[in-house]
Amino acid sequence: MIIVKTPKEIEAMRIAGRIAREVVDEVGRYVQPGMSTREIDLFAAELIRKQGAKSAFLGYKKYPCHICISVNEEVVHGMASDRRVQFGDIVSLDVGVYHGGFVGDTAKTVAVGGCSLSAQRLMDVTEKALHEGIAHAVSGNRVVDISRAVQRCVESHGYSVVREFVGHGVGRSLHEEPQVPNYVDGKPSPKLKPGMTIAIEPMVNAGGPKVEMLNDGWTVITKDGELSAHFEHTVLITESAPEILTCASKTATESKGS
Ligand code: MF3
Ligand code: CO
Ligand code: CO
Repeated sequence: MIIVKTPKEIEAMRIAGRIAREVVDEVGRYVQPGMSTREIDLFAAELIRKQGAKSAFLGYKKYPCHICISVNEEVVHGMASDRRVQFGDIVSLDVGVYHGGFVGDTAKTVAVGGCSLSAQRLMDVTEKALHEGIAHAVSGNRVVDISRAVQRCVESHGYSVVREFVGHGVGRSLHEEPQVPNYVDGKPSPKLKPGMTIAIEPMVNAGGPKVEMLNDGWTVITKDGELSAHFEHTVLITESAPEILTCASKTATESKGS
């Protein structure tokens, strides 16, 4: 069942979304050559705590870190470790927070110091694919309209979309119905209605679409060792244009209070 949120619940989701956005952006600016992914995770943990929020990932199916940090060929769910990021690496940062009973879920890929033009292009196309998907997240469309838009954008640039992991409904729980694939899977696809909140999150590989899981049971890497990028927003379906909930601006209620 797809849960439609009330205006009050949506207001809570705007706040959770804004917090997730601030955390992922601040962590993105913090990442520098030579840092270990553990340092990055602990920095994120502190930011989440300061916002009065909780990590939505820590403890989820026993996941042991506060955010997901996936370097270069790592696709998603990379775990904090002694691995040090180097100049030229690209790092996918995925942040999920609980605040006020709701989840904000957002991700971005950043370069460490700088990166090759080809890595930059991969990141740019992934972000563009996310926004193509969001543009199709409108009432009356089906989920597959989002999937098709993402897949077309990615493949028209010669990249591939990961099949094994998908976007999802989000609300009081990190993962709700429906699934939001980044490719057309040919399965029946639900209609989008105002009040639905979904996380759209293309995972885009520079090479082939195949992935494998490391022995740690979490880290997903590209099978061919090529780079992968990941961008994600939590999005509200409305009567008109989609609203990105994981955006930086304070909500009306918050501004009134400050
Ligand atoms: N990457 C997932 C998402 O954005 C959530 C990660 S679950 C975790 O939906 F346990 F790995 F953290
Ligand atoms: Co996420
Ligand atoms: Co997500």
